[in-house]
Order: sequence, then C-alpha cells, then structure tokens
Amino acid sequence: MRVLGIETTCDETAAAVVARRPDGSGVILADEVRSQIEEHVAFGGVVPEIAARAHVEALDVLIARALERGGTAMSEIDGVAVSAGPGLIGGVLVGLTAAKALALALDRPLIAVNHLEAHALTARLTDGLPFPYLLLLASGGHTQLVAVAGVGDYRRIGSTIDDAIGEAFDKVAKMLGLGYPGGPRVEREAEAGDAERFDLPRPLIGRAEPDFSLSGLKTAVRRQADALAPLTGRDVADLCASFQAAVVDVVVDRVRAGLRAFQQQLGAPQALVIAGGVAANMAVRRALTRLSQETGVRLVAPPPRLCTDNGAMVAWAGIERLQL
Ligand code: KG4
Ligand code: ZN
Repeated sequence: MRVLGIETTCDETAAAVVARRPDGSGVILADEVRSQIEEHVAFGGVVPEIAARAHVEALDVLIARALERGGTAMSEIDGVAVSAGPGLIGGVLVGLTAAKALALALDRPLIAVNHLEAHALTARLTDGLPFPYLLLLASGGHTQLVAVAGVGDYRRIGSTIDDAIGEAFDKVAKMLGLGYPGGPRVEREAEAGDAERFDLPRPLIGRAEPDFSLSGLKTAVRRQADALAPLTGRDVADLCASFQAAVVDVVVDRVRAGLRAFQQQLGAPQALVIAGGVAANMAVRRALTRLSQETGVRLVAPPPRLCTDNGAMVAWAGIERLQL
C-alpha cells in the first residue's frame, strides 16, 4: 500500500510518499519539506495569509518531486492523506483542495487526517511500536500527554492550562531579541549559558495531575530581562540556559506524573514517545532518556525531522486509517 501525504497546517509545506510492507512496517519512499521561515522572519512569527499563499506556490512542485523521488507514478498511489486540522485555516484549505482534486482525478480514497494524530502515530512508522504508549506531544500550538491505545483511541491525560511549550520557547526568544523560530535559537544560546544564574519557577511540579503551565515561567524570564536591560550576550545566554533548565525540570516531573496516571488507567505502557517540534530539543531528549533509565519505560524519540511538521507522518496516519 502506498499513500501520498500532504501537510500545510502551519509554516511547512510538505509532501511525502510512504509505503506499508506486507509485514505491516512502514517505509518512507520520499519526504519533501519546504519551510517558510524566510517569508515570516521579518514579522517575528507565522503570518497566516502569507503562509497560505506560500503553500499555494510550493505545494504542486513538492507533490511532483515526492512522487518522482519516491519512484511512484500517480497511478500507483492507493490513497491521498492530508492534514485537515487543527491548523491555520488558509493553509488547511490549500492542502485539502489539492488532496481532494488528486483523489477525485485518480479515483482513490481521500483520508482527512488529524494533524495531532499524525504526530501521535509517527513512532509506529519509525519504530513499529505496538499499542499502548504514552505520548508527549509538545509543539508550538499544543502540549499534551496522551495515552495512545489504538488508531483513533486517544485519551488525553494531561495538557497545558496556558501556553504550549514551543510557544513559551518562541515568546522567550522574541523578548530576548533572538527572533523566530525561537526553540532552536534558545537551545543554541543555552549551550553557552549558566543554567544556575537565574532562579526561575517550575510551575505545577509535584502535582499529581499531569498538567503543564508555562506562562508564569515565561513572565519570570521577562521580569529578569527587564531588570537587567540592556542585555549583554552573557545575560541572554544565561537567561536561555536557566529557562531551558526550568522547562526540562517541568517536563520530566509532568511526564513522571503522566506515567503514573497511565499505569493506573491502562497498565504498563510499551513506551514513552515524544513528538512535536519541542521533541527536537536535545536537553529535553537527554532528560527523558535519564527518566527512561530510571523508570524502565522505553523512550522512543523519532529523528528530529520527523518530530517537526512533515508529510511522512500524514501519509503514515493515512495508511493506518486505510488499513482499518
Ligand atoms: O510541531 P511543530 O513543527 O509545529 C507545530 O507547532 O505544529 O513545532 C514547532 C514548535 C515551535 O514552537 C518551535 O519553537 C519548537 O517547536 N521547537 C523547539 C525546537 N525546535 C522546534 N523548541 C525547543 N527546542 C528546539 N530545538
Ligand atoms: Zn505539528
């Protein structure tokens, strides 16, 4: 089975061809991603109208390239999967319109995929992971702990009560003048910084409910930055390191609470899986590796390019749905 996957919900235009082998494992035949960072950088964030127009310009080229590099003729496609939301409506419309047109012309099924489900199932494409598992989905728009018990069987056991983790990285980057996208820039600055210089809060740590809160931490960074202004390079690096260390502590404690809640509801998980852009952060990955060693729960962390938005995850979610 071969499925074309299309992703246009935010600022990445992506198309991929993924196949399912007879033994059930997946293989990525082609995975084309075009990031729109350059179009949005002057505005300090994603501008929905610009994003939608950039998707229009790039999408047909990316689809053609994915098919060519994937050695797949249009007629060999068994289905067209597309992220149908949540996302910026202009971009979602572009992807859906292209996918519907292809499905209609090829007389193949259209699979409307929930973008979060695509992130949630990626570990089954990369690692053939069986159900059930605990997913930490941490992106720019979402921070959730989800018990993934089957395709379509998702139970949210915790989530942020204010900002998403990626959003907190983006806002901290903006207030420190690091620009967009914030996560990778804060991570780079943090490498040279002193994580102990600023004593920042770790919201909700120790609570039994596996929820997150990031806005107080973000405000604490702002207060420190305002008090020090104008900031030196040293100040920026130390603020980034202290902020990232606080995020890491919060993530580890909240995931530990999530594992406990999972155990109570579903028994032992097959693994802890991380997905979403924040899963590309090396400090987060290292800390969760330590938690995995401590708890004996296997950590599955897909390669960073499959943690951020891509077409392969959408194609795979389409395959899982078609298979049912
Ligand atoms: O999943 P994603 O590509 O897009 C959606 O939001 O759906 O995630 C993007 C988010 C942004 O907030 C970005 O700053 C964050 O993930 N991010 C990171 C890193 N790379 C991306 N956050 C922390 N460290 C990183 N290395
Ligand atoms: Zn995403």
